[in-house]
Amino acid sequence: TSDAAADVLRGHIRDIQDWPQPGVVFKDITPLLATPAAFGVVIGALVDIARQRGATTIAGIEARGFLLAAPVADRLGAGLVPIRKQGKLPGPVRSATYDLEYGTATIEIHADAVRPDERVLLVDDVLATGGTAAAAHGLLAGVGAEVVGLTVLMELSFLPGRERVAPLDVVPLLTI
Ligand code: PRP
Repeated sequence: TSDAAADVLRGHIRDIQDWPQPGVVFKDITPLLATPAAFGVVIGALVDIARQRGATTIAGIEARGFLLAAPVADRLGAGLVPIRKQGKLPGPVRSATYDLEYGTATIEIHADAVRPDERVLLVDDVLATGGTAAAAHGLLAGVGAEVVGLTVLMELSFLPGRERVAPLDVVPLLTI
């Protein structure tokens, strides 16, 4: 269940103070990845969410989102769509640029990544400001996907990510 997943996450996420810059507390998922039983519980909870939403396709956001999206897609028997940082996808792409605290970032999707009948669940590790997820949602919608939600391991509720991605439905396993 997702309550069990929340407990597992509390025990397997490491806070790194002042990384990548002073004042930021980075949520490090490497202890979770290194612990098979814990990782399995978390992937199982994400698969349950995907099933509840009737997802037929999983979209993962580079890079940490890939680590979650791939096992979820495999367990679900669903396809995987990678949303990548600029310049990494080889085919024709659509791009979205969004604001970071300092500067901008650009992510891309293959223009032919989804068919119109696919129900896509977006997966990432953290929802923080929501800039990345909002851009990813826009890319998926732009290539014709029906996006059935965004699921994340952790939602940082002291930041306005949820408002920024609205009306996309956010399903966190753990709210911080
Ligand atoms: C992190 C995280 C999310 C995003 C969340 O990725 O994995 O994708 O930031 O932040 P936001 O809600 O403020 O947009 P990052 O850009 O650090 O990339 P990485 O996974 O390649 O390290």
